[in-house]
Amino acid sequence: MNSTVRNRGGVTEDFNFRLWRYGGTGGDLIPLLQAAQDRYGYIPRQSISHIAIAAGIPEATIYGVITFYNQFRLKPMGKNIIRLCDGTACHVSGSSMLADTIEDELGIGINDTTEDGLFTLCGVACLGCCSLAPVIMVNDRTYGRLTPASLRKLLRSLRSGAQAV
Ligand code: FES
Repeated sequence: MNSTVRNRGGVTEDFNFRLWRYGGTGGDLIPLLQAAQDRYGYIPRQSISHIAIAAGIPEATIYGVITFYNQFRLKPMGKNIIRLCDGTACHVSGSSMLADTIEDELGIGINDTTEDGLFTLCGVACLGCCSLAPVIMVNDRTYGRLTPASLRKLLRSLRSGAQAV
């Protein structure tokens, strides 16, 4: 996993170095959180404590920032990433029914991960294949013209395949 980020000057730094050189400016909090997420794949509780101490910012404030921005995650991503498109074409073709099906089948909503760590659901604005609406992507594979029934079948097959690995 990539543990480095580029600073404003284009120099690559990792999370620990960025934390060490933190200057106390409010604008540095977001890059610090991004560096932590780049390193761990999410922002662990321990990183929040380290950032709070280094930056002198209460943990509650940092949690507030993390939960405000969609880009940040407090839990690791699942083994399989499902991207559910809710762009215009997919929305009018029934993406909300697909979201309901995923919630019913896997018990997760947008930005959630299943308890077994097999699936994370992300919402996206357009996957670039609107003629196949409604569309989801699972990892790097696209599935189009889905119905609740075909999606349910797909999720069951993915789940049994993922558990067999
Ligand atoms: S709107 Fe869903 S792929 Fe474009």
